[in-house]
Amino acid sequence: MATRKTTAGAVRPARRTSGVPPTKRAGRSAQPPPDVSPSRYIARISRLTGQEIPGEVDPDELLVHAHRDHHPLEVAAQFAASRILQLTKKEDLVDQGLRAVNLVGSTAARAAGAFFGGDAVERRVRRLLGVVGRDHYFQFREPTHLSEGEVRERIGKLQREAAAALHVRGRNPRLRVLLTGATGFLGKEILAQVADDRRVEEVVAVVRPETVRDPKTKEVVKVLSPLERGALLLKRLGIHGARARRFRFVAGDIERPDLGLAPDEVARLRQTLTHVIHCAASVSFDDTYENSFRANVTGCANALCFSLALQHAPGSPFVHHVAIETSYIHGRKKASLAQENALAFPRHFYNNFYELTKAMASLETDRFLVDSGLRVVQLLPSIVIGESRNGNNRGDTKVVNAPINAFGRAKEAVTAAGRDPLARARARAIGFVASGFPGDPTAQLNLVPVDRVVQGILAALTVPAAIGTRIHLATDNRIRSEDIVRITREELGVHVRLSDPTLYRNVTLPIVTTVLEKLKEPKLASALGKLGTIFGSYGEWGQPIHDVGNDVRILGLPIRRPDTRHAFRMLCRHNRYVQEYGRVRDPDEVFRREDLWARAIEAIEFRTGREVASMAAEEFREHLAAEVDLATFRARTRAGGKLRATKLRAQRDSLPRSARGVQGGATQRPPAQRRSRSVH
Ligand SMILES: NC(=O)c1ccc[n+]([C@@H]2O[C@H](COP(=O)([O-])OP(=O)(O)OC[C@H]3O[C@@H](n4cnc5c(N)ncnc54)[C@H](OP(=O)(O)O)[C@@H]3O)[C@@H](O)[C@H]2O)c1
Repeated sequence: MATRKTTAGAVRPARRTSGVPPTKRAGRSAQPPPDVSPSRYIARISRLTGQEIPGEVDPDELLVHAHRDHHPLEVAAQFAASRILQLTKKEDLVDQGLRAVNLVGSTAARAAGAFFGGDAVERRVRRLLGVVGRDHYFQFREPTHLSEGEVRERIGKLQREAAAALHVRGRNPRLRVLLTGATGFLGKEILAQVADDRRVEEVVAVVRPETVRDPKTKEVVKVLSPLERGALLLKRLGIHGARARRFRFVAGDIERPDLGLAPDEVARLRQTLTHVIHCAASVSFDDTYENSFRANVTGCANALCFSLALQHAPGSPFVHHVAIETSYIHGRKKASLAQENALAFPRHFYNNFYELTKAMASLETDRFLVDSGLRVVQLLPSIVIGESRNGNNRGDTKVVNAPINAFGRAKEAVTAAGRDPLARARARAIGFVASGFPGDPTAQLNLVPVDRVVQGILAALTVPAAIGTRIHLATDNRIRSEDIVRITREELGVHVRLSDPTLYRNVTLPIVTTVLEKLKEPKLASALGKLGTIFGSYGEWGQPIHDVGNDVRILGLPIRRPDTRHAFRMLCRHNRYVQEYGRVRDPDEVFRREDLWARAIEAIEFRTGREVASMAAEEFREHLAAEVDLATFRARTRAGGKLRATKLRAQRDSLPRSARGVQGGATQRPPAQRRSRSVH
């Protein structure tokens, strides 16, 4: 969920409050967008003439919620469709059925108009019957007027240029990478994996200052400089000594030209950088359009401009730019496969401005690729969750973590209610309403563990063939809402009740929030309202299915993608024991716990010879309690723990690589193995 960071104090990064920053011409031709209007990327096309209808496109009309729940009959039809789908399990059939019903209504309205004479009658009948009909549709603007063959030829040339730039670097390419978003969820995993990646000689991380506030008073406690943030980050990630000297943290802001870097820094980087990984963004599902645009579109355009200038700088060793996007740029496409290399405006719109602005950023990236000849790779993770083996997410509390933590806390509130019957009844009532969630049992979510995503990002650095492609970093084993409910019940003891999303939005949520307000729980009411509105969209039927294949074919990642059910189970356990459902927020404590957690899991797996994700919740808890004091989250015995960890590592290191679960290069080792220090 949208989440500005919070720590020992609530932390808010310093943010610009003005409008879109002035843009500067860099490189030869492309410029960042002149304004924040979607019209630069999206055109409104008349159904009648097939021509563009002039005028601005309002960002709101590009979202799903602007096109539904306008009429009781339409709400009823959506509800019925969801029920029928549960019986038939045939999405395209139900989608066709809905369209047929709409067509019948349309025909009836037209007939009434013709019979009684006039458009006014037809419009009135349409409104009465809740017929959905638009005289226009939306379409992405083409990034170029070149033919497909010409584009292919250009991309081939860019790939050859990148291959040549890599070739001159020899077998030890000593890459120098500029990274944005290093302090975020993915960024931290990139730092952790890069620390052991021998191909990379230097990482220059662009970081903005961080304002630390007191969680209660909201007073500013201190402002951390980018340098201080970087030093803290390395310490928390356990990156010391020579490994730490490969990282440099510089002040910058992606919303500014040249990423807000000092001019002498820019001049130096033009002579040294081989890659830019642009990972920073606003991953906030409920941010305003303007904020999302500034971070995601302007930020992306600034990063692309920066790279283009590098590429054209005389004597520059630049190889290529890596843009981190999201597979949800495909928006809502009922009953269809979202193909990696095809991007079309989604027939069922976008869930939020995050998705919409990331899609516009991807179109901007296409323009830089084909118009300006920037060597760029586009990587599209699906919904990223914690590490595949242990669920570690380095303190991330957004996206899927938000509802898991909310369920866990509601359950704890019921357990903590004590013996007083009144307090228990109240807690039960709260727990009951809080565990309802909008979701269709058949809806599929595409979750992918963060380690797999970062393997893909780092692999892309030395694969010129990835230039000019979109690559989904997703899974081929999607998880259904019903699996999420089952695993949540087994791991958290929470009986989540899935409600039909249409019914939930229109009936349940208003009732639940009223009940909670009456029970004097306004905070919970507002949190549930927010969760329901934000995540309801992802629990509906008709989610896109993100095609995969380029991750293996082009990037060479292992064909066996992580087991999503296992990864989700470990995320639940991690959020329960390590994060205490989001209550443990101090980053130092989070990192201490995650380190111990990774070691404990490694120890359990070694001792039992089984993957912990395949153990039942109770069995896992017993094994965990043997390693870790769950009340204090400390290793059981200091000396014993240290000894056991050292012994385990020695035993493990003597095994062949395949037996240790090492899949390939340095970037594919499980994190527990990567660290050299012991937390015990
Ligand atoms: N998380 C997911 O499920 C997911 C799924 C698909 C794709 N992605 C993509 O992966 C990328 C990283 O996501 P994440 O989950 O790591 O996000 P995150 O945890 O919210 O981190 C965002 C990062 O961007 C930085 N940032 C934002 N605005 C900035 C600015 N104006 N100047 C400099 N830095 C700025 C933040 O810095 P501060 O620390 O200063 O705020 C932070 O380091 C994004 O492009 C996202 O779209 C994420």
